[in-house]
Amino acid sequence: MLELLKSRRSIRKYENKSIEKNQIEELMKCALLSPTSKNSRPWEFIVVQDKDTLEKLSHSKGHGGAFLKDAPLGIVVLADPSKSEVWIEDASIASTIIHISAHSMGLGSCWIQIRGRNHSDSLTASEYVKETLNIPSNLEVDAIIAIGYPAEEKRSRNEDELLSEKIHYEVY
Ligand SMILES: Cc1cc2nc3c(=O)[nH]c(=O)nc-3n(C[C@H](O)[C@H](O)[C@H](O)COP(=O)(O)O)c2cc1C
Repeated sequence: MLELLKSRRSIRKYENKSIEKNQIEELMKCALLSPTSKNSRPWEFIVVQDKDTLEKLSHSKGHGGAFLKDAPLGIVVLADPSKSEVWIEDASIASTIIHISAHSMGLGSCWIQIRGRNHSDSLTASEYVKETLNIPSNLEVDAIIAIGYPAEEKRSRNEDELLSEKIHYEVY
């Protein structure tokens, strides 16, 4: 796991190659295995492969998600706040598991933050995604994970770069 995590990076450039159905199914199984508070499983996921839809979603917020238009796959991570008061944590853990699972399968991915971001002065990024994908009003959008075969190489992290001063033992 340590070696996998050292080589995990956010990948924002993808080959022009679609992702096989069995790869997507495996990724979604990984997502559904995510732990949640009280096992409430408040999340839902939308698997998007349609090019026009990905292009629209790439405009969800400022420039920070523009690379989604060239990704073959986007997974929109939603949750129902009425099912869990800690839905943000639950959705974030699922997003993280998708990101790390993708890496373990040889895919590159990057988190696109939607919750708390704006599409324009009058529309939040979440409202824009909800309108674009016809998402019911009871659900909130946390993030979109852009995924594809990597078309950029990023170096693994070295253990000597780790911020070891962040770790405290027994007391602060
Ligand atoms: C909560 C969260 C939100 C992020 N939002 C975005 C985003 O909107 N756009 C983007 O390009 N990268 C986003 N990232 C990726 C980070 O920029 C990236 O993880 C960080 O720069 C460290 O780089 P690394 O993942 O290659 O180690 C996000 C990451 C996290 C964990």
